[in-house]
Amino acid sequence: MMKLNTSLQSLSHSKCCTLAGSLNGRRSKPSRISCAIAAPPAEEVKMRVKRNENFGKLQAGYLFPEIARRRRAHQEKHPDAKIISLGIGDTTEPIPKSIAEAMQQAAAGMATLEGYSGYGAEQGKGELREALCQRFYSHVGRKPNEIFVSDGSKCDIGRLQMMFGADTTVAVQDPSYPVYVDSSVIMGMTGEYDEGSKGFGKLQYMVCRPENDFFPDLSKVQATDLIFFCNPNNPTGAAATRKQLEELVAFARKNGAILVYDAAYAIYIADSDLPQTIFEIPGAEECAMETCSFSKYAGFTGVRLGWTVVPEQLKFADGSPVIADFNRIMTTIFNGASVIAQAGGLAALQDEGFREMSDLVAFYRENAAILRKTFVDLGFSVYGGENAPYIWVGFPGKPSWDVFAEILEKCNIVTTPGSGFGPAGEGFVRASAFGHREDILEAVERFKKEFGKQ
Ligand SMILES: Cc1ncc(COP(=O)(O)O)c(C=O)c1O
Repeated sequence: MMKLNTSLQSLSHSKCCTLAGSLNGRRSKPSRISCAIAAPPAEEVKMRVKRNENFGKLQAGYLFPEIARRRRAHQEKHPDAKIISLGIGDTTEPIPKSIAEAMQQAAAGMATLEGYSGYGAEQGKGELREALCQRFYSHVGRKPNEIFVSDGSKCDIGRLQMMFGADTTVAVQDPSYPVYVDSSVIMGMTGEYDEGSKGFGKLQYMVCRPENDFFPDLSKVQATDLIFFCNPNNPTGAAATRKQLEELVAFARKNGAILVYDAAYAIYIADSDLPQTIFEIPGAEECAMETCSFSKYAGFTGVRLGWTVVPEQLKFADGSPVIADFNRIMTTIFNGASVIAQAGGLAALQDEGFREMSDLVAFYRENAAILRKTFVDLGFSVYGGENAPYIWVGFPGKPSWDVFAEILEKCNIVTTPGSGFGPAGEGFVRASAFGHREDILEAVERFKKEFGKQ
């Protein structure tokens, strides 16, 4: 047996399993146990690969895994508790019928000679780029070739960072969607984390609080190369006015900065006076790129489909077009979005699909209105929830993680602590409207019961 073990160690995984399956001369089903026999080599491996030191600067892992950890701990402590999540902004309702059917057909087609397709264009199907342009951008002068279809907006935010070097300077809204900060940290753009200010030394935090109507005082913001701006905002739920966006575009133009405009929730804008895309602002085509997603439009968080618009007029300091480098990124490290997901996206932009998608958005908007009214009636300071699926609730003077813990303990409801989105999020929690209606109504009852008598 000892001898056999030694020889097994030098075999590859598959050979090892197969041999063990015929050990006693009979053909038997290969067993996994044989692989466990192989002991690790006696000598310790000495790695030469250095860790990217920027990873060490990332703070407390990613916000949502930490929330999940605390939720699990609470569930273990209270096994019978029915926890409701208003935490992570993940969709819960089924994908609308005509959109799901288009994906079913595309998937079935892949099993036929006529319907099969392999790699497609890395930039996305021409038909889908045309449809996106027609629905959302042709009225503001954008063209299909400027739209890059992808596997999601988060992935695009990560990928686009590769166009810039570590010496690029960055500004973010504070609070903001964590991916802008974390991807900038990984790229080495932010400098060190400072415990005192709870921020990164080289990052410009554009404070957005009730006092400034959640729009940064740009006179206090130093010029940077990149400006990440999310509108409607995750987490505050604020949607910028035309005048505010004009100010932002003027600021970016004056400083020669690139505005990375995240419009992942644009479809939630109900007020027709508010811009739906940054390209409604004249001059934005020379200073902005916009990323967006089907995730919160059509329940595609699991399907994965998004897009990024890079105008031909957007240039680097040396005059070269940003679109050329973005195209290089997409063709080099991305291989095109799933053809099945793209069939769904295309269906979502046809009249029937668009109607269904709008109904889905309206449903989540109603959830937001229900939550917002509840917090208002309970006397809290409440923001957002009117042009965005997030409600931002103020608990002045209280640390957000304490509020998070109190709500979890008293109501068995998961929220998101505002401080997880940046230093200016302290004292707030975010409630997401992406739940089932019965859960939203149940959550409302629990809030009323626990906070109604204060
Ligand atoms: C502001 C913002 N941008 C982008 C994304 C990511 O979208 P996707 O699912 O397309 O990666 C999210 C998801 O929550 C988001 O809140």
